[in-house]
Amino acid sequence: RKPVTIPQFKKMKKEGTPIAFLTAYDYPSAQLAEEAGVDGILIGDSLGNVVLGYDSTLPVTLDDMIHHTKAVTRGAKIPFVITDMPFLTYHGSIDETMRNVGRVMREGLCKGVKMEGGAEIAATVEACVRAGVPVMGHIGLTPQAVHQIGGYRIQGKDSPGAQKLLEDALALEKAGAFAIVLELVTEEVARMITSRLSIPTIGIGAGTGCDGQILVFHDILNYGADIRPKKFVKTYTDIGSSIRQGIRQYVDEVKTGQFPREEHSFKGNNEAVAYLYG
Ligand code: KIV
Ligand code: NA
Repeated sequence: RKPVTIPQFKKMKKEGTPIAFLTAYDYPSAQLAEEAGVDGILIGDSLGNVVLGYDSTLPVTLDDMIHHTKAVTRGAKIPFVITDMPFLTYHGSIDETMRNVGRVMREGLCKGVKMEGGAEIAATVEACVRAGVPVMGHIGLTPQAVHQIGGYRIQGKDSPGAQKLLEDALALEKAGAFAIVLELVTEEVARMITSRLSIPTIGIGAGTGCDGQILVFHDILNYGADIRPKKFVKTYTDIGSSIRQGIRQYVDEVKTGQFPREEHSFKGNNEAVAYLYG
């Protein structure tokens, strides 16, 4: 397979081929997502919730994002890999924003960035795109604004709200965004916005009418002890339970002397050591 490109995303929208994005945060998950055939990977600032154990995305730093982006781009070469610009790293001067975006791209080696917001960040998006940085927009529920919104709730439910979302989407498209995430918006609104744009919409909790989907790695695999079931998520496998079960058995076998056994032991055999650390 050849690396996925932005022109392909536009083509996929035109031809009605759904686009599959998934988040990833480290080397093994990126490798597995690539092998499984995702079109794009987002190093989401959901990193804060599912990997770092914070209760929102606000504490995530630019250095956190860069650190994890480096790992992901070492693991995945085919999917289009983009990184979330974290809280307050793209709201100062254009100079400061460009410096931050530059660090993410140069050090993380991703192919683009995602930013939360609509018309109010259009000038910022435009500056990035003019500099050659692909930008994915993100409207609807924008978790970095959770304290302003007052919770994680469905957006654009009334007609002024839906109108505002459409205006934001059009502003992002005009600014040069290559795609837009629609998070937690009603199916009707997402479908309406999707039909009005030439760039793909990537839905999360946005129903069946988007050009593509994105979900959080840990959500679809139930990876973690406190992953909560969500209406818009489907759990495809339960690695949380497999991991717990595997670790339990390991601890049990160590405690009862069943592990390690003869076959796991070295007996002055340097060849075996060389093989292991090869
Ligand atoms: O941080 C994240 O994972 C995201 C996606 C779920 C859209 O922003
Ligand atoms: Na995010």
